[in-house]
Amino acid sequence: MLDTLYRRQFLVAALLVALTACGGGDAADSADGAADQSAEPADMGTPAVVASAEGEELYATCVACHQVNGQGMPGAFPPLAGSEWVTGSPDRLIAILLHGMQGPVTVAGVEYNGVMLPYGVGVPISDDQLATLLTYVRTSWGNSASAITVADIERVKAATSDRTTAWTADELMAAMP
Ligand code: HEC
Repeated sequence: MLDTLYRRQFLVAALLVALTACGGGDAADSADGAADQSAEPADMGTPAVVASAEGEELYATCVACHQVNGQGMPGAFPPLAGSEWVTGSPDRLIAILLHGMQGPVTVAGVEYNGVMLPYGVGVPISDDQLATLLTYVRTSWGNSASAITVADIERVKAATSDRTTAWTADELMAAMP
């Protein structure tokens, strides 16, 4: 009886190790081709470093849900790889991170219906870090959209400063067509 229990725990642990190992491999892959890490922090209007190691570090906050490879989890968390919300309008993407997102949303043809908190809840992050993170997301896993700048972040912050709740997809499309 006890024996079976231990064996089961061992199997679960082994599975977790295998899963973690897979994730680690992906992380190494996406670090390939990482851009210059010695660049100065971006000034206002200067594009953040594309697919930087710093961006990958900041992305650790998102991994639990959107996964190391940006594929999300079927039925629960939408993908960032190949997502029109990621590679489309910079303003909508920034707004999602600033205020969160909730309710039905279609991503790459699949509908999800969950809640995402704003980025940086309880842990202050700078505009520069947000620009670096979002540039990483827009240029990883086959995504190849333009970089996000500190000026972009400041523009969207100013335009949405009265926002107090998470966006629905419909609200975002209406506010930022
Ligand atoms: C606790 C889980 C969780 C974490 C952590 C999280 N998200 Fe999300 N995210 C979600 C869910 C759930 C949705 C869908 C919300 C909805 O259904 O309206 C979403 C939606 C999104 C979307 C729009 C849809 C898409 O897939 O493109 C983007 C962009 C996004 N998240 C980026 C991020 C980034 C970047 C981070 C890290 C800073 C992050 N998320 C952290 C759960 C999470």
